[in-house]
Amino acid sequence: MERYLLSQQPDTIVANKLPDTGHASSWCTKRKKRTRSHEGKKIEEKKRKSAPTQICLEEEKVPRVETADVVLTGDCLKIIPSIDVQVDGVITSPPYNLGKNPNHRRKDQSDHDFYSSYDDAKSAKEYTKLIVQLFRELEKVVAPKGIVLLNMSYSSKDASLPYHVVVSVEKKTSWKNRETLFWKKPTAMPFQTSPRNLSRIVEQVFLFARNTDFVTNKAVKSVNEKTGQKFYAYADNYIEAPCFDPGTRKHHKATFPCALVEHLLRLYFPEGSIILDPFCGTGTTAVACKRTGRHYIMIDIDPSYTKFSEERVAE
Ligand SMILES: C[S@@+](CC[C@H](N)C(=O)[O-])C[C@H]1O[C@@H](n2cnc3c(N)ncnc32)[C@H](O)[C@@H]1O
Repeated sequence: MERYLLSQQPDTIVANKLPDTGHASSWCTKRKKRTRSHEGKKIEEKKRKSAPTQICLEEEKVPRVETADVVLTGDCLKIIPSIDVQVDGVITSPPYNLGKNPNHRRKDQSDHDFYSSYDDAKSAKEYTKLIVQLFRELEKVVAPKGIVLLNMSYSSKDASLPYHVVVSVEKKTSWKNRETLFWKKPTAMPFQTSPRNLSRIVEQVFLFARNTDFVTNKAVKSVNEKTGQKFYAYADNYIEAPCFDPGTRKHHKATFPCALVEHLLRLYFPEGSIILDPFCGTGTTAVACKRTGRHYIMIDIDPSYTKFSEERVAE
């Protein structure tokens, strides 16, 4: 089965053809039939020879996404409106806006401080707008009882940005912050030359829901026979997990680990749920979904990350 990934380039939409890995469903079979005549195939063959992995699709801008277990390349704000599948929830970690633009990198700065293409140096206003727009799009695609788990940290220059984002999302969308979980990492940047900054060994995961009847997997331990009151197994908002998964760091500077995502999946989503990660990076959320019997829809703007995600999830 041939599979295609959307990729946003300055003025065109292109699709990357990937080898069939057998695990992900094709979300664009219909479109493929409509757009690829025999003649078209020949032209595509030619194009592929000069630019091996890219094929121009001029007829349709963003094809519909009709199944889960896919990795898509492009701006999540453009792709989410094309998702026809209702997702049960979102687990994601947006860029933290740490002030790093890969085009303005000094010679003494390492590749590891930067995304390969994304400019992580937006104004607070621009950054907040991006996340608010994302939550507006999520209103249309996430099931009514679905939740969004948003992992965010902060830069020393603007430590309150995550809270501004949370408040703006609450003011401008129907999502409300209903819980905050804490991810404790074994190590964090030591800030050895700073007299002030502490090692940020904890990151937050903000839970958003549109109502109070979102579900969890907390097990019922007992029920009071007289009142019917249920008592649930203990579950707290503190998660210890590694900083990142082996093999991901050399491809991406800011990943979260599978152990964190698996913990969140087990807490909040039954098996078979469909999880969206609009900023998927190295595909950690997909790997965690696959391992725990959930489905995934992954999006990242950077084709090198989605290629890596596809390969990683196929392992
Ligand atoms: C913090 S990283 C996510 C890392 C991921 N959790 C992992 O474990 O690999 C944020 C990602 O968002 C991507 N990104 C930035 N803007 C985007 C957009 N508008 N649409 C989709 N992806 C975007 C970046 O390329 C980056 O890979």
